[in-house]
Amino acid sequence: MSFQSALIKWYQKNKRDLPFRETKDAYKIWLSEIILQQTRVEQGLPYYYKFTEQYPDVYSLAAASEGEVLKLWQGLGYYSRGRNLLATAREVAEKYDGVFPKQYSELIKLKGIGPYTAAAIASFVFNQPVFVVDGNVNRVLARMFEVKQAVNSTEGKKILEQIANECGDRKRPALYNYAMMELGALVCTPANPACHQCPLQPYCMAYAHQTQKSFPVKEQKKKIKQRWFYYLMLKHDDKIYIQQRRENDIWKNLYEFPLIETKEKISDKQLQKELKEIGIRDYTISKTYSHQLTHRKIEAHFIVSVLKRKLKKAEEEKLYKVTIKEFQKKYAHPRLIEKFLTDYLKSNQ
Ligand code: ADE
Ligand code: SF4
Repeated sequence: MSFQSALIKWYQKNKRDLPFRETKDAYKIWLSEIILQQTRVEQGLPYYYKFTEQYPDVYSLAAASEGEVLKLWQGLGYYSRGRNLLATAREVAEKYDGVFPKQYSELIKLKGIGPYTAAAIASFVFNQPVFVVDGNVNRVLARMFEVKQAVNSTEGKKILEQIANECGDRKRPALYNYAMMELGALVCTPANPACHQCPLQPYCMAYAHQTQKSFPVKEQKKKIKQRWFYYLMLKHDDKIYIQQRRENDIWKNLYEFPLIETKEKISDKQLQKELKEIGIRDYTISKTYSHQLTHRKIEAHFIVSVLKRKLKKAEEEKLYKVTIKEFQKKYAHPRLIEKFLTDYLKSNQ
């Protein structure tokens, strides 16, 4: 048996009874799909009933005011969906004589209808051979074919769309799409897929290799935080001052130069002012040294100043006074500092 047939057979036996799957009314299917965007079925179902009761067809919805629609939408969130709902109802009523277009390419032009929703309406209502790709479908396909590319990357999306189109059952697109979505919702779930009751088990690469947990691959798009470090290399008697990092932060327990950290890049003038306040007037400033960590990026500058007299408060401030050689040999320090020192020593030979 083909995997499509196994899937559809499973669906017909195990599907949930959902009112919008029992109708071929484009209006009701469109309405349900808009409600279910970013919303779980249990949460969306009461709204589907409320809307179909109050507005049984596209003309009654088109005649509503925005205030009425948003009032009924209250609690669902993402209110732009409610506004788009009304705009599209009016457009269908006026431009299309109340009849939703059949073609994916026409549906996608309507407000609030993206690739997923256009494919859903075209297939569910008109049985057009277009195949839906939503979070559920992505997960099933990524596992079945062990798709290595991230589902949220441009490349991964393209590959999954191709696979979805190649796998889709062209003779039974509506049934096939419903079945894929239902399998993702009920069996091939994110955390613990119930592979033992899955009709696709014989076809699934992730099951064969027991790699279900590794798919779908997701790219993490965390915002990278930036930090600015201004290190002071203060020289006296051919020695420099260093300190140990004690805070629960990067580089804990490593040694470094006294540090001024800022949340933003500061101007040369501002820096000059800051340094003047701690008695540093004559100095040179290095180029930028960048250091990339997993979730943050550090931009460091090194300020070199030769002191005329030793730092009085050095001991209270837990500074050590060492030669550069000792520092390099005996005190563990970040690579960033070592890079600077290498450059510094080269140009001061
Ligand atoms: N989520 C979005 N559309 C759905 C549908 N037609 N059936 C079940 N869950 C859905
Ligand atoms: Fe998902 Fe498991 Fe079925 Fe593969 S066998 S499609 S991992 S539920």
